[in-house]
Amino acid sequence: MSTSTAQQTTEFSNPNLETLYTGDRIQARVRELGAQITSDYAGKTLYVVGVLKGSCVFMADLIRHIDLPMEIDFMAVSSYKDELRSTGDVEILKDLMKPIRDRHVIIVEDIVDTGLTLSHLLELLGTRGAASLRLATLLDKPEPRIKKELVIDYTGFQIPNKFVVGYGLDAAGRYRNLPFIAVVKDPSAV
Ligand code: IMP
Ligand code: MG
Repeated sequence: MSTSTAQQTTEFSNPNLETLYTGDRIQARVRELGAQITSDYAGKTLYVVGVLKGSCVFMADLIRHIDLPMEIDFMAVSSYKDELRSTGDVEILKDLMKPIRDRHVIIVEDIVDTGLTLSHLLELLGTRGAASLRLATLLDKPEPRIKKELVIDYTGFQIPNKFVVGYGLDAAGRYRNLPFIAVVKDPSAV
């Protein structure tokens, strides 16, 4: 067995992470969002759509605080962020499994940054005749926003322009399993 520091440090106590929101704080906020959605949609049936993969943890917690009949579904998109394209082209990698015509749809995201991904998704789903279409995001990073007109109906927390991980959010695929949200101190060490 190696005795190197890397082997002795667990992922949740990784020294390159600085906690921004504890698990308890997140749970309290998600409970509030769920209660708000429950009251806003009273008497209706929901179709809750998670955007893979980042929203999976938030989605799993949020739906358990929405006391209404619902179905859930997932979409997967690639947003070409790394290519520094500002066109906001979004490729659908996995579409919804059912039509959303006449349904009350809530799209669930992990974080809205430039807003390009969600704008494109809204444009696409907006053509499908939903009864209503709203957005919920755990985190909103307003500073880098390009799509200033994007309306987010339900926001967990507004955060500064820093790269964060955990509770579904990743850095190069890692850290989605953290039960809290953290800032990566040295992104080059991910
Ligand atoms: P947008 O199209 O710029 O709004 O991109 C949103 C997507 O970028 C999110 O769904 C995340 O996958 C990713 N993203 C943006 N900021 C962060 C961050 O701080 N941590 C992890 N992923 C992020
Ligand atoms: Mg994402």
